Amino acid sequence: MRVMVVGGGGREHAIIKKLRLNPAVTELYALPGNAGMEGEAVCVPIGAKDIPAIVAFAQEKAIEFAVVAPDDPLVLGAVDALNEVGIPCFGPDKKAAIIEGSKVFSKNLMKKYGIPTARYEVFSDPEAALAYIETAPLPTVVKADGLALGKGVIIAQTRQEARDAIHSIMEERKFGDSGNQIVVEEFLTGPEVSVLSFTDGETIVPMISSMDHKRAHDNDEGLNTGGMGTIAPNPFYTPEIAQICMDTIFLPTIRAMAAEGRPFRGCLYFGLMLTPDGPRVIEYNCRFGDPEAQVVLPLLESDLFDIMQAVSKGSLKDAKVEFSGKSACCVIIASKGYPVSYESGFPMILPPDGPDTHICVAGAKRDENGGLLSSGGRVLGVVATADTLPDAVERAYAHADQVVFENGFCRRDIGRRAMQALKGAD
Ligand code: AMP
Ligand code: GLY
Repeated sequence: MRVMVVGGGGREHAIIKKLRLNPAVTELYALPGNAGMEGEAVCVPIGAKDIPAIVAFAQEKAIEFAVVAPDDPLVLGAVDALNEVGIPCFGPDKKAAIIEGSKVFSKNLMKKYGIPTARYEVFSDPEAALAYIETAPLPTVVKADGLALGKGVIIAQTRQEARDAIHSIMEERKFGDSGNQIVVEEFLTGPEVSVLSFTDGETIVPMISSMDHKRAHDNDEGLNTGGMGTIAPNPFYTPEIAQICMDTIFLPTIRAMAAEGRPFRGCLYFGLMLTPDGPRVIEYNCRFGDPEAQVVLPLLESDLFDIMQAVSKGSLKDAKVEFSGKSACCVIIASKGYPVSYESGFPMILPPDGPDTHICVAGAKRDENGGLLSSGGRVLGVVATADTLPDAVERAYAHADQVVFENGFCRRDIGRRAMQALKGAD
């Protein structure tokens, strides 16, 4: 079958590695992909947001199945456009992708259907928002409504920080139309858990849980990033908590979306906080998380392509979705200066994959001699699996230390908090 994956980062590389395992996948394209995955998929220089070009390419190559992986094309309606020309897809249509595309939508959905989340107010008028935060409890959380490259959430410790956040989002329009409305919400505390799930709109099958490390530097210092590393499974997510989440969050969410006439088919990502009052939804994403996908997919023992086809056909209840009992760790190597300002174009030499180690390439180009050059902020995801989390972490760092990339840096404490939690539980 001729299959294409829309997107070009580490998540897409992780998806491609799994799709290749199915012998029915005879041709595999990545739009745009990157130089680090050229051996595994044919990379086509079409941007992930260029929907007319994506559709034209799919028709020209008679693509039989498409995986739309990033948030932007999903929210812009790439799946609708591909379905219109008869190409089945893994990924939600535009109506369902709004669960990530608008925080106002998702907060109102949770309120209407009683799904536990932080208390909040919505504002479209900056004056009203400014008046509200004068008496709101601190810290307070200010969120731009729309997509903002993961940077639209400000945790304001003081009223001045909250005022500044409202000014920059609503008046200076730092995130453009994404800031037409804002959500101001209650600050929650507790360990964070990412749960990705497969759903065809009726059946929902959670994948193994994971933990992201969002801050740029060790000990959770520095700015928020797209994610500097992940581990799976997340030790804070016990079977009891998983059951509570299934009953109070996962099933109610897919039923709510169906009841709203927006059935969700694809990967629905639950960003959860395990608060002293129980699990709460921090955010929904309409896609695989990155770098969460880089640790979750290697632990998937069933066939990803079969599952994706079942999701798209609405037959997920008959599909086999099994995970190994192992652990995984992904260490992101980013360009020095990320997430603020950084340079690209540094030579990289990657070690060969080991039996339990590999690298997902998030950003790379070729030099004139065919060598790999770094490109962008997050550049590499170094992944290892092992029977235990400490072994997976050790293997991932041992593999990362073999990477030659002078301008790269990584956190040295990925998995530390999870390992401390495991020790505490002994
Ligand atoms: P988001 O982009 O919505 O995932 O938010 C980014 C990060 O901000 C989350 O991973 C949390 O660490 C933090 N965050 C978001 N909302 C809240 C909240 N209501 N209380 C505490 N932390 C939050
Ligand atoms: N790692 C968080 C995300 O993909 O949104």
